[in-house]
Amino acid sequence: MVRVTFITPEGDQVKAEAAAGTRLLEVGQAAGMPLEGTCEGQMACSTCHVIVGADWFDKLDPASEDEEDMLDLAAGVARTSRLSCQITLSEALDGIEVRIPGESRDLQRL
Ligand code: FES
Repeated sequence: MVRVTFITPEGDQVKAEAAAGTRLLEVGQAAGMPLEGTCEGQMACSTCHVIVGADWFDKLDPASEDEEDMLDLAAGVARTSRLSCQITLSEALDGIEVRIPGESRDLQRL
């Protein structure tokens, strides 16, 4: 199992565990995080935006151009922002920390 720590917009830590191969989006949703994931991983929303702990960011596969484009539209973007639907857990990510941005916005509803 891969352990994940989510940090809520309020600053609370929520621990979760999931099998390698699970998408971070699903892990967050199962842990009750407010990640809508409206487009279910089609990179057409950005409601799955998370901010990855700096120590972990470099361990991830680099974001695709489509992901970067979508992140440009997300609210509260930081240097280590990623779309959680594009992150698949692996053993190498055991212990990863991700923060849920304070403001998430569904662009499809604007
Ligand atoms: Fe829509 Fe990730 S779920 S971009």
